[in-house]
Amino acid sequence: MALVTSKEMLQAALEGHYAVGAFNANNMEQVQGIVGAAVEERAPVILQVSQGAIRYAGLEFAAALVKTAAAEADVPIVLHLDHGTDFEQNVRCLRAGFTSLMYDGSKRPYEENVAITSRVVEIAHICGIPVEAELGQVLKASDGVTEEEVIAAMTDPDQALDFVQRTGCDSLAVAIGSVHAMKEAQAELDIERLKAIHAKVKIPLVLHGSSGVKEESEAEAIQYGIAKINVATMLNQAFVRGLKKAMEELPDNVDPRKWLVYSREEIKEVVRHKMRLFGCSGKVTASGFVSPKTVHPAVKLGDAEE
Ligand code: G3H
Ligand code: ZN
Repeated sequence: MALVTSKEMLQAALEGHYAVGAFNANNMEQVQGIVGAAVEERAPVILQVSQGAIRYAGLEFAAALVKTAAAEADVPIVLHLDHGTDFEQNVRCLRAGFTSLMYDGSKRPYEENVAITSRVVEIAHICGIPVEAELGQVLKASDGVTEEEVIAAMTDPDQALDFVQRTGCDSLAVAIGSVHAMKEAQAELDIERLKAIHAKVKIPLVLHGSSGVKEESEAEAIQYGIAKINVATMLNQAFVRGLKKAMEELPDNVDPRKWLVYSREEIKEVVRHKMRLFGCSGKVTASGFVSPKTVHPAVKLGDAEE
């Protein structure tokens, strides 16, 4: 089916107390693993193109992968820009057919973040495309962050209200204790802060850096306004795990496809698990969606394919 925007998808999640998984993809196998999971779980899904993916695959190529997968799938799929760096990049993504944008001005002074986010929102809304913004800062583990720094970067609830009112953004990424790119799920979220933000800000809230967050904490956050959860590192780990397993089991193989199907399957299983945890599994029930079909069946090992 055609791509959908994240507007109604996230509003439904907010009202239904579940979260939609937003999964980062850099290559065909990752896209297929994520979409395959969504089809099997009957889940709405967001595929995100990160700054790393744009550097790796190119904006048009990364977008084309998601569009192709969406056209073949029978669940609603959003093509989202993750951590958009500036106004111009958001415009390029609008032109490339993205159905959800993000401008991340969290590293900028507050007034600058408000001003640029507002410009992005204005142009995106003309085209009917929603915008995620970020306030407070979700830091990066590779920068060697301390607990004090994570706390200092958290979102202020009063400022969040002012920010949302002034920018008109459609969803808000909040800093509540997660850190990007953690390799293990050790972090606990500041649920009291989240409750305070959710009490003031009525739009869907977004959790970044979920790979490092304990699952109990993620589940609790969904009850207080988190309607979109971004997952990236965990999928890269799954991809590499699958590849290592394949290389161990098939050391003499010379056909990369026979290794890459392991990665694709490993990603699919992780995404299915997350979709059940987030509560978005089984939410695609509206009439018009045909019954699940298997997309992209794995290449049969042992087949002599050209
Ligand atoms: O924007 C992407 C995410 O926030 C993903 O974070 O790599 O820690 O899962 P993660
Ligand atoms: Zn993020």
